[in-house]
Amino acid sequence: MGKEPDTASEHDLKPAGKLLLRALSGETLTTPPVWLMRQAGRYLPEYRELRADAGSFLDLCYTPKLATEVTLQPIRRYGFDAAILFADILLIPDALGQDVRFVEGEGPVLEPVRSAADVAGLDLARLHDGLAPVYETVASLSRSLPEAVTLIGFAGAPWTVATYMVEGGTSRDHATVRRWALSDPEGFGRLIDLLVEATAEYLIAQVRAGAEVIQLFDTWAGALPETAFARWCVAPVRALVERFHEACPGIPIIGFPRGAGAGYARYVGDTGVDGVSLDPTVPLDWAAQVLQPVATVQGNLDPMLVVVGGEAMAAEVRRIRGALGGGPFIFNLGHGIVPQTPPEHVAELVRLVRAPAA
Ligand code: CP3
Repeated sequence: MGKEPDTASEHDLKPAGKLLLRALSGETLTTPPVWLMRQAGRYLPEYRELRADAGSFLDLCYTPKLATEVTLQPIRRYGFDAAILFADILLIPDALGQDVRFVEGEGPVLEPVRSAADVAGLDLARLHDGLAPVYETVASLSRSLPEAVTLIGFAGAPWTVATYMVEGGTSRDHATVRRWALSDPEGFGRLIDLLVEATAEYLIAQVRAGAEVIQLFDTWAGALPETAFARWCVAPVRALVERFHEACPGIPIIGFPRGAGAGYARYVGDTGVDGVSLDPTVPLDWAAQVLQPVATVQGNLDPMLVVVGGEAMAAEVRRIRGALGGGPFIFNLGHGIVPQTPPEHVAELVRLVRAPAA
């Protein structure tokens, strides 16, 4: 397919298809596709309203009608190039039989898994029954999204999901899970292997239901020193990507090893991901030189700049576009949008990203 030069027609479907898929297939576009991590959520009044009536957060995730509606809210407001399925990375532990709750003002609380016996108590056979409502949401989104909008499915990467399963929630230092991984790599490896298997199955089912791109969130990749990073982040993601690509050839995966620092280079070199999501600390020139020749880069505006807005946000958007716009690139934040973000700043951000380059 030939490249379309700088006209507004890039936002048309023809001739080459959806912008996000074009960027992920390696094309350089004059206007990058844009979506934001956590684009559905508490910063939107319409989300807070629906959430108040939905019961628990897990009820919301498991009710296809409501999860579909919440996914569509930011698309209606801002016309993003992609919609991300509304769900959570902790649905897999829940579906495997671990007790998972979301406590208001505290976050997730899980009954910890800390031994080989605990791992043996998890049941892969229940996975698809538990997650069937999510597949239904994906199918309903696939029917209802505007034609130019790409549907992104997702899951947590094995290491990050394991941190929540072992720590029993969000952790500052991940001491328990790191200690287990170092002292009993074989036992901990069984949990990681189970998660590779479950996550591959989950993502393949999302694609069968209509997901067109997958993002893998490895939020706590930065907690691992070099040797452990290779073993518990890179190797499982590589195994997962291999299984996924075998079952779903041509469906791109974006990996997000948040906080991996210079480890980002090994991650894109060794995992086989098609795209890589950059956290806000990744230097842009380095990303353009080292990562972008290997994978489509996505990112990486500091979410706090969308809270602040104005010229501070505008200047950084220009800098990111300038540094990464010369190759395959998707505009996004470097981590999820935060609840205190003014919705009108998001509208301004989308306008800036789509403005003709200076
Ligand atoms: O991006 C999107 O709009 C899609 C939905 C989505 C959610 N969680 C909804 C959610 C996605 C992609 C996630 C991923 C997720 N969940 C990650 C990886 C990305 C990241 O942010 O690092 C992680 C670590 C989780 C686990 C999780 N879920 C935590 C730690 C919390 C509590 C913290 C918080 O922000 O409240 C959640 C809850 C959660 N997941 C909310 C939303 C909208 C807020 C809950 C609510 O509305 O009451």
